[in-house]
Amino acid sequence: MEAVLNSKFYITSPIYYVNDIPHIGHAYTTIIVDTLARFARLKGKDVFCLTGTDEHGQKIEQSAKKNGKNPQEYVNEIAQKFKNLWDEFGISYNHFIRTTDDYHIQTAQVAFLKMFEKGDIYKGEYEGNYCVSCESFFTKFQLINEKCCPDCGKEIILLKEESYFFRLSAYSERLLRFYEEHPDFILPTFRRNEVINFIKMGLEDLSITRTTFDWGIKLPQALIDKDPNNAKHVMYVWLDALINYLSALGFCNTLENKMDFWAADYHIVGKDILRFHAIYWPAFLMSLDLPLPHHIAAHGWWTKEGKKMSKSIGNVVNPKEVVDSYGLDCFRYFVLREVPFGQDGDFSQKALIERINSDLSNDLGNLLNRFLGMSAKYFNNHLKVDSTHFKEHYHLELSQVDKVLKSLEGYMDAVQIHRYLEELWTLFGLGNGIIAKKEPWRLAKEGKNEEVAELLVFIANLLIKSALCLSPCMPKSAESILNVFGLKAESQNYQKFILAGELLTQIQCETISALFPKVENVLLENNTQESKAEIEIANPISKEDFQKIQIKIGTIVNAEWLPKSEKLLKLQVDLGEKRTRQILAGIKAYYNPQSLIGKQVCVVANLKPAKLMGELSEGMILAAKDSKGLALISPQDFKDNGSPIS
Ligand code: ME8
Ligand code: MG
Repeated sequence: MEAVLNSKFYITSPIYYVNDIPHIGHAYTTIIVDTLARFARLKGKDVFCLTGTDEHGQKIEQSAKKNGKNPQEYVNEIAQKFKNLWDEFGISYNHFIRTTDDYHIQTAQVAFLKMFEKGDIYKGEYEGNYCVSCESFFTKFQLINEKCCPDCGKEIILLKEESYFFRLSAYSERLLRFYEEHPDFILPTFRRNEVINFIKMGLEDLSITRTTFDWGIKLPQALIDKDPNNAKHVMYVWLDALINYLSALGFCNTLENKMDFWAADYHIVGKDILRFHAIYWPAFLMSLDLPLPHHIAAHGWWTKEGKKMSKSIGNVVNPKEVVDSYGLDCFRYFVLREVPFGQDGDFSQKALIERINSDLSNDLGNLLNRFLGMSAKYFNNHLKVDSTHFKEHYHLELSQVDKVLKSLEGYMDAVQIHRYLEELWTLFGLGNGIIAKKEPWRLAKEGKNEEVAELLVFIANLLIKSALCLSPCMPKSAESILNVFGLKAESQNYQKFILAGELLTQIQCETISALFPKVENVLLENNTQESKAEIEIANPISKEDFQKIQIKIGTIVNAEWLPKSEKLLKLQVDLGEKRTRQILAGIKAYYNPQSLIGKQVCVVANLKPAKLMGELSEGMILAAKDSKGLALISPQDFKDNGSPIS
């Protein structure tokens, strides 16, 4: 623990090109970076979180021209848009770097000179297939139809020019050895092979200067003094860009020297730019005799309703619009939870709404509301229990909570944020389940106030601990939950409640309004079309026919395997009657019994009881099935057991 406190933590996002306004892909990367930075701060680390903009190169020069502006004027405008958006989103960056900033230009020139003096840079002539849009050269066999860029599909141009080269080929062996000695350098690890294969196919030296345009960093003055001809070169934008990670720490420039943050703990990037970060960047650093970053973590690609987002198709998702409609934390939760880190993901409003309604509203929101409702109703918001008894009675549940909490850090370290959230969410399941099982409303009626208080104290501790762990991902919502208990998402509290496992047994809480109201489907743009078409109704029945069927809400209070049966689970369902009903349901292939406890379901209550496999079944549970599997039907909000469905 001592070692963690105040230890340095350096994390970066890519610096984004300013030829385009920020979209959901940029927001995704930046939110991941922000989440990891916040988690490190929560653990007590001294964090430096960097983001910024990449402002040189032919592509930017062309964009500026198209917009009728001079390049500097143009990049100032767009860089400001990125910065404003991150500020609006509360991104906790410590520094925003722009590659047109003086101190960065200074660092890039010093670094160039150091590599030159080392003998890693030489003059030659470059001829190759160049994609202006990606600022990247490609070999002939990489091209599509021998003329188009394999990354963006645009037509490449043939470039021939005097150029300085970096001796990348000389670093192949050292790079391969480094990956071998640091198996988690590239995350997720399945991307490692891609990089290794690229090197094994043979690394060519890298052309790192251009003479065909001006919008870039000039070579170091020392080299121009030596040969005035060098004045016509500008640095290749990727060399310029990667060096930003050093400039921001004051490496050989006028900024305060913060090189004690080096080497970076994480460079977070999209898979499109993994090669630059996992091959070129380490080679540059080796040439500069600097240690290499600990992790390059590459995430997947977002598409919109199955299609690549592009300005020409006009389907680019604007993150600000999404946040304005659904809320910042809901958006953060969605992007962090929906897609396994490293995989591609599809953005649709439908999926976003589903996540909000099920995970946020039903699981977390519901638990919080039930807790707040009961502690106000039964205890006037003042809870107090005997500590020894409480720990004894809740020994099992508390150790379950502890186990989940202990597992979380590993997921965050491996940038498996979706797994982190998945695990965290099992705690809300546990909380909702135990409320359903203990039926505090019944205990209260029976005057067992102490038992109710213990249950609520357990839920309070569960909420406090999970809100602390949720805070890096959903800072605002976690803050609201912690506010209920007069606490903050601070590192002392993380040490206390997560690492040291402290529990509160006397709690004063404050009621807050519902955190995650359900989102109605009406926000969807495209669901109005079909409703006007004629629909043929097969096998019509009358209202009276339907009313013969009594469908009621019930809560599953127990669920177990029926060892004899391949299909059936044996459930005990509370329908608000004198005793629970036993129902056999053919859902063994789809649900783990434990996960069902506490869930509300819809039950056909007047079905004639029947015996199956020698066991009585006193009702039928409604479920929907499609090609992807089966799902039980539940009410949108918690309803009293026995509530009729009509
Ligand atoms: O490449 N899905 O900048 P860039 C997910 N300047 N992430 C996406 C995305 C999508 N559809 N589109 C973009 C550059 N991104 C260089 C970087 S770093 C020294 C220089 C994200 O503006 C993703 O992180 O093209 C990707 O790597 C980055 O934006 C590329 O941003
Ligand atoms: Mg790009």
